Amino acid sequence: MDQDRAKAAVARAACDLIAPQLATDSVVGVGTGSTANLFIDALAEIRHTFDAAVSSSEASTARLQAHGIHVLELNAAPAVAVYVDGADEVDPSRALIKGGGGALTREKIVAATADTFVCIVDDSKPVDRLGAFPLPVEVIPMARGLVARRLAGLGGQPVYRQGFVTDNGNVILDVHGLSITDPDALEREINHIPGVVTNGIFAAERPETVLVGTPGGVERL
Ligand code: A5P
Repeated sequence: MDQDRAKAAVARAACDLIAPQLATDSVVGVGTGSTANLFIDALAEIRHTFDAAVSSSEASTARLQAHGIHVLELNAAPAVAVYVDGADEVDPSRALIKGGGGALTREKIVAATADTFVCIVDDSKPVDRLGAFPLPVEVIPMARGLVARRLAGLGGQPVYRQGFVTDNGNVILDVHGLSITDPDALEREINHIPGVVTNGIFAAERPETVLVGTPGGVERL
């Protein structure tokens, strides 16, 4: 099973997992990225079994709407039953690095709102320790220099993501060279730097469930 087939299989498995939990008034939270796109495609097949979606990016909103799925503003959603999204890395404690696509802030907001978070990855994503994937940090543009210096002080090498603006009008610093031994502590520490909107460590918002697409099929981490 190649990576694309693994992503498609895990996306479908997530849909099968959540389907029994959905009712006609349910709202489904939807992530961003290539794996989340395949989840959207699978979700479209059961779109009459739930009410609406809330989305973590303009790109996912467009894909949902193209499938005829009603997309609510998060503030208009009475509750979000489940959030389904991919990740760039997942460690054995289910802490994640996310934000390779730059949607980390909205992703974290929707994940925090949802009753439960199902993370879907192919088998290139599980790692023993987070940090080989550069950690995305969303930053208010005027604070880019300050935040970069503080991140360097934490031992990372921040790289400005050239030519990229988030859906929130901010910039991304991708932090290389971190070996993240305590994801909870580092998530808090980086979020306390003035000008940081949020960082791509999802430790406070760990998924309850991680599904991994492997050559042998879909496994639960
Ligand atoms: C988007 O900002 C990210 O958090 C994605 O969820 C993450 O990069 C995984 O993307 P893929 O499913 O494309 O690997």
